[in-house]
Amino acid sequence: MNQPPLTESEKNLLITRAEAALKKAYAPYSQFQVGAALLTDQGKIYTGCNVENASYGLTVCAERNAIAAAVAEEGGDNLTIKAIAVSNNRHVPCSPCGACRQVIAEFCTDTSLIFLSPDGYQTQTLRQLLPQEFSLSDTF
Ligand code: THU
Repeated sequence: MNQPPLTESEKNLLITRAEAALKKAYAPYSQFQVGAALLTDQGKIYTGCNVENASYGLTVCAERNAIAAAVAEEGGDNLTIKAIAVSNNRHVPCSPCGACRQVIAEFCTDTSLIFLSPDGYQTQTLRQLLPQEFSLSDTF
């Protein structure tokens, strides 16, 4: 919360790192390689790619693998995701899937999401893309 706004150079660096990360994707079934790079509010960058499985439903998206890498290094309790960029090998418009939006929301709802739209990369907040995330505190 109350983080300084994402700078243009941070945004461009995240896009570069996401585009590099997608090259490692394991996507033999869809051939759709996805890369994600996230920036923590501490200024660290973590990346991930999609990892598919012969049992298709076990596939894990790039965004969630980037988050898993960040949690493995930082722990989850103090992790705040300032921004996350997503790219794909076909360079087609592709915003983060609903499951990934919910997982990102666990670590910050102010997060900037940078993803490909028909006009190139665009940035929206997670709150715009997922206005009402599931939260246990809303339940009880
Ligand atoms: N995929 C991601 O990695 N992130 C998304 O936000 C949407 C989809 C992956 C999953 C699967 O390996 C491939 O893209 C095709 O759906």
